[in-house]
Amino acid sequence: MSEPKGRGAAWAEQQAPVHPVLEVTDLVTHYPVRRGLTQAITRQPRRRVHAVDGITFTLARGEMMALVGESGCGKTSTVQTILGMVKATSGAVRLDGVETTGMSQRQMRPLRRAAQMIYQDPYESLDPRFRVRQTIEEPMLVHGIGGSRSERKPLIAAALEQAGLTPAEAYLERYPHELSGGQRQRVAIAASLVLSPALLLADEPVSMLDVSVRAGVLSLLDSLRRTESMAILMITHDLSTAAHFADTIAVMYLGRIVEQGTARDVVGNPQHPYTKALLSVVPKRDPRHRAKPQILAGETPNPVSVPTGCRFHPRCPIAAEGCRETDPVLRITAGASLGGSGASLSSASTATHLTACHLA
Ligand SMILES: Nc1ncnc2c1ncn2[C@@H]1O[C@H](COP(=O)(O)OP(=O)(O)O)[C@@H](O)[C@H]1O
Ligand SMILES: [Mg+2]
Repeated sequence: MSEPKGRGAAWAEQQAPVHPVLEVTDLVTHYPVRRGLTQAITRQPRRRVHAVDGITFTLARGEMMALVGESGCGKTSTVQTILGMVKATSGAVRLDGVETTGMSQRQMRPLRRAAQMIYQDPYESLDPRFRVRQTIEEPMLVHGIGGSRSERKPLIAAALEQAGLTPAEAYLERYPHELSGGQRQRVAIAASLVLSPALLLADEPVSMLDVSVRAGVLSLLDSLRRTESMAILMITHDLSTAAHFADTIAVMYLGRIVEQGTARDVVGNPQHPYTKALLSVVPKRDPRHRAKPQILAGETPNPVSVPTGCRFHPRCPIAAEGCRETDPVLRITAGASLGGSGASLSSASTATHLTACHLA
């Protein structure tokens, strides 16, 4: 049965295979550091937090990419810049082929529907005065979806059920405080789903939830990218979660991606000493495979004064003389499997195994 296609559908069909859902190129986000009075009087130079310091990646339809790294390495700043909540210092972001860098909030608005954010703390992201029904109706009203209340009602119920809250009637009239943490996060996800986004940016979506419900919420995200072909950028500081759910992994250190590739390559054949250190503290089921946890030496990095050369060198267990001087670029890992493990990712995906290390 073939339906006549509207112009919008024809356009979407034409566009879909051409562009990745998300394209980030040399993205830089620096925040100014406030100078104290003495520093201002003595004319010390303005300093900046190098939160995101030149990252490049693409995300294809139906791909889940995990952005992994320790607290403060710039993960949240990355997604905030992608959504235009924070202004990029330089570089470019393209959503479905449209460059959004430099757009005003008003210009961004129609695009904001296509890219939805899931926050770490569902308690904070839901309005406590809103019933579930209202929470999900709100974004529909903002974006003009569903003409009347009676038209919106089945869409609200469908979104709740898609988010695993069944039957929807049991949840519609509840307030956030009448829900568990996992249910609240599912409501937040449902409020994104009513907009049929092409891209979900999930910032540590389960780290505030009870361990017992984490897998359920992650499986929900996993099923969304499979059934709806949604692209998902999942931020996590937990490499084992990334390994389990994501197609591709980008490991971030001090504002840079230091290693990226398919989850299988990055976890099974890590090249960067930082990735290796992160993996050494992931608990293994089989005690025979348990490696000695590698505790990184040196101070935790300061994004205001980034080390010269390779920014990881002060903490790197294998750093050599040259590492202090030359900043390594991301390049194809020797013997890397181009295109990765046969996942159905487009050619413009992050599947190629790349490492930024002089010694890898
Ligand atoms: N609005 C801001 N102003 C100044 N510095 C910020 C701001 N937001 C984040 N930072 C700093 O930028 C760095 C990266 O932060 P963030 O992106 O939140 O990292 P992550 O999400 O990986 O923990 C940190 O050093 C943080 O203190
Ligand atoms: Mg964060």
